[in-house]
Amino acid sequence: MTSDDRKKAAALAAVAYISSGMKLGLGTGSTAKHFVDAVGEKVKQGWDLVCVPTSEATRKQAESLGIRLTTLDETPVLDVTVDGADELDSELRLIKGGGGALLREKIVASSSRQMIVIADDSKKVATLGKYPLPVEVVPFGLKATGIKIDQALAWSGNKGPLIVRMRDGKPFVTDNGNVILDCALGHIHNPEKLAAALSSIPGVVEHGLFIGMASIAIIATENGVETLK
Ligand code: 5RP
Repeated sequence: MTSDDRKKAAALAAVAYISSGMKLGLGTGSTAKHFVDAVGEKVKQGWDLVCVPTSEATRKQAESLGIRLTTLDETPVLDVTVDGADELDSELRLIKGGGGALLREKIVASSSRQMIVIADDSKKVATLGKYPLPVEVVPFGLKATGIKIDQALAWSGNKGPLIVRMRDGKPFVTDNGNVILDCALGHIHNPEKLAAALSSIPGVVEHGLFIGMASIAIIATENGVETLK
């Protein structure tokens, strides 16, 4: 079973949590992509679903599958958001944003009654932080904001270089016109304290720590799918 097979297995297991008539948040990334495909299948079978995508990439995929889309302005409360993660721990604390969609992902998840995480077992960790923590930052004052992020890391007992995410030799630009600083921390000590410190910095738009948001994680392993609550 490849990693992509396991991602697909987790995505398909999440279909058990949705039903016709629901309003859904659609995540971003290679795992969420399988879930969006499954939603497309349900729509073809006649299910009445309306969805908010968490990125332009997901919006395009959903449109190509004939999935009816809405916005949070039209539909401010969703039933369920299903999304992937870069890391999750046993308390269902997540690192997200590897695909650069963390801001919309967090807004959509926080507008949903339930967030379900889907992942292959490589994403499950004892301590968050091996995966660099993405922080979405306004380009104006990037260096000054970076200094404040360093201070926030130190204050919360963390340390590690900040790397401007690049794509094709240029800074990666998010769907919201911002840039991403990836914080290579190794281990995140006190994720709650770090999350609060990062959120208090004016140039930080959002960070990739999702704490207290997911209520269910569906993890696919070689031996089948396990559910954490
Ligand atoms: C995008 C995300 C993704 O959910 C995360 O990067 C996981 O991606 P994948 O399913 O491709 O491993 O947070 O911003």
